[in-house]
Amino acid sequence: MRFAGVSKRYGDFVAVHTLDIDVEAGEFLSFLGPSGSGKTTTLMMLAGFETPSSGDIFVGDTRITDMPPARRNIGMVFQSYALFPHMTVEQNVGFPLRMRGMAKAERARAVGRVLEIVGLKGLNHRFPRQLSGGQQQRVALARAIVFEPPVLLMDEPLSALDKYLRSHLQGEIKRIQRELGITVIYVTHDQDEAMTMSDRICVMNEGRICQIDAPETLYRKPNDVFVAGFLGESNMLAAQDARFEGGSLSVSLAGDTVALPVKRAPASEIVVSVRPEHLSVSAAADGTACITDVTYVGDHRRYEVLLADGRKLAVKSQIVDDSAPIGPGEKVKVAWPTHQMRVFSDGATLQ
Ligand SMILES: Nc1ncnc2c1ncn2[C@@H]1O[C@H](COP(=O)(O)OP(=O)(O)O)[C@@H](O)[C@H]1O
Ligand SMILES: [Mg+2]
Repeated sequence: MRFAGVSKRYGDFVAVHTLDIDVEAGEFLSFLGPSGSGKTTTLMMLAGFETPSSGDIFVGDTRITDMPPARRNIGMVFQSYALFPHMTVEQNVGFPLRMRGMAKAERARAVGRVLEIVGLKGLNHRFPRQLSGGQQQRVALARAIVFEPPVLLMDEPLSALDKYLRSHLQGEIKRIQRELGITVIYVTHDQDEAMTMSDRICVMNEGRICQIDAPETLYRKPNDVFVAGFLGESNMLAAQDARFEGGSLSVSLAGDTVALPVKRAPASEIVVSVRPEHLSVSAAADGTACITDVTYVGDHRRYEVLLADGRKLAVKSQIVDDSAPIGPGEKVKVAWPTHQMRVFSDGATLQ
């Protein structure tokens, strides 16, 4: 599947800027981004419910840009289950097959098989109102995969469900995707969901792709300041007195001079990001930083640290022995983890 120069405008407003994405067959790709970042619009163009303002979409070698939705052979699941209320589970799931003119007996076999896959065996004659939210979403999933589409689109399919059911169904969807070997394009604004389910995540902001990468790469090596802030927690620090010399950028952070390995010279404004779990603090009488708060969180302690220049840092400290916490008011030194810090200039990485 491929987006080639695809964009979408509504009048003067650009909802999706030019997208170029290659999705491998069998891949689980998620679009992750805040509300209004263009995720649904992108999915709707793929499904055929929106027409791109420019560019083309391919499934395999077939150009589907102008093909009507019903002919695209793509399964879809939405946040609201959109089941037919007057039809039973069996009739709902069999609907796409009936539309395709499949004979009744063959249809019953296919429906039976797919209900078993999604864990709804025996509920054939129930109506949607007689099912829980999780069961209804399984029916929607069964209906989307019953005609064996090579591509399945899901737009926030679990966001109406409670946390336990959501994580259970995340596992189920992954299992079904692997069993059937289908390509899944998944939309979510929930970073944990995207991280646990995806082969790759496409992070979107304001209609643009910020970065497409495997979850671990996105977390460890964000290329973009938005990704660094959106995925997991990061301390973001504007850096002063930057000096670029021999592949290294030395910056001043609250009185400490820190040398960071970089690939190019910065343009202007420099922001450094550092994860709370990569920082450490140690009590020191001559320390220039100070603990302002400490919270016990089971496997780690969370410190709030006030730097000499008035900025604050969050620090996560793993608890590996029974050592006492550093108390509020104590002076500390901060150890800067130079190899795990990211540095951005005008929003883009220098690394
Ligand atoms: N039919 C439309 N007409 C005008 N603007 C639209 C339309 N559909 C979506 N938009 C705008 O496009 C942007 C992206 O929307 P959407 O793709 O739904 O975002 P997301 O799914 O990431 O929350 C939003 O600013 C939204 O208001
Ligand atoms: Mg949306």
